[in-house]
Amino acid sequence: MTDQQGPVAIVGAGSIGAGFAIVHATAGRSVLLYDAQPEAAEAAIGRIAETLADLEHFELLDEPPAAVLARVSAAASLEDAVAKAAFVHECVSENLDLKRQVTADIDARAPGDAVIGSASSAIPASDYAAEVPGNSRCLVAHPGNPPFLLRVVEVVPAPFTDPKAVDAATRFLGGSGLATVTVRKEPRGFVFNRLQGALLREAYCLVRDGVVSVEEIDALVRDGLGLRWSIVGPFETVDLNTRGGIERHAKLLGPAYEAMGAERGQHDPWTDELVANVSEQRRAALPLDAWADRVRWRDRELMRALLTRRSGES
Ligand SMILES: NC(=O)c1ccc[n+]([C@@H]2O[C@H](COP(=O)([O-])OP(=O)(O)OC[C@H]3O[C@@H](n4cnc5c(N)ncnc54)[C@H](O)[C@@H]3O)[C@@H](O)[C@H]2O)c1
Repeated sequence: MTDQQGPVAIVGAGSIGAGFAIVHATAGRSVLLYDAQPEAAEAAIGRIAETLADLEHFELLDEPPAAVLARVSAAASLEDAVAKAAFVHECVSENLDLKRQVTADIDARAPGDAVIGSASSAIPASDYAAEVPGNSRCLVAHPGNPPFLLRVVEVVPAPFTDPKAVDAATRFLGGSGLATVTVRKEPRGFVFNRLQGALLREAYCLVRDGVVSVEEIDALVRDGLGLRWSIVGPFETVDLNTRGGIERHAKLLGPAYEAMGAERGQHDPWTDELVANVSEQRRAALPLDAWADRVRWRDRELMRALLTRRSGES
């Protein structure tokens, strides 16, 4: 795979397609948007203009919105969109047959060295690209929504994906300011949606069982777990919540979490070996003698986040 120079082609101009267009156009790249629905790409450009105005309002643009918008065009056909593309984002609806067909169409028309990244939320490349002749350049590039604000993308190759395509995707997306996490294996829902799904499944159960209301769950996540997770992830959270770090947390609370899982029919105990692995990774990231300073850092970051929320309320 070369270091590509052509435009970014986006196939499917819905929420995610328009979001990726903003990411790349704000990074100075030309974007061609194609959608099978007539007028959909033009409508997306209208929504992009509104979002760019908002980004400017929050001082998140380095240049006038019109300069960014000028880099985004609607393509009249799939062929026009992808013919000279450096990178193709497939952002059509989440449907296996549709993704199979569209990926094959893109593969037949895009330059041989362009990576084809699918925004797929849960369908792995092994399922939609197995029969595609050029499947060595196919992988999932799954964003959070909206991609121009949640700037991390899961890159999920299939066994048939060329590692050079993974490197090229990582470099290309990185060039537009997106961090990437390369997912090993292709678990259903990848990682982002598995984590989200674990919480959502439990939330549905709790509402079903009359334990709390929908709004009460949203409040606990919005003002509690989620606020903290915007600063530190779930492993760092419990590492910093427990004197002695994550290993002690697992000793103290592992059995309680195991019992909660068992109530839902899940049996995945945190074995000594697993805890040792996780703890080793945490200690490499944060030696225990730096723990107290990091706790103070977390608290100060939470103060900053609270201040930002308050200024948004006034
Ligand atoms: N919305 C999210 O939160 C989110 C987050 C991450 C990933 N995704 C994934 O991104 C993909 C797109 O999701 P979305 O939310 O943007 O959907 P959407 O419904 O907003 O947009 C999909 C677009 O694809 C177009 N389309 C359908 N068939 C087409 C074809 N043959 N050629 C070209 N365009 C075609 C539709 O007209 C529509 O405009 C899905 O795979 C979805 O699972 C969605």
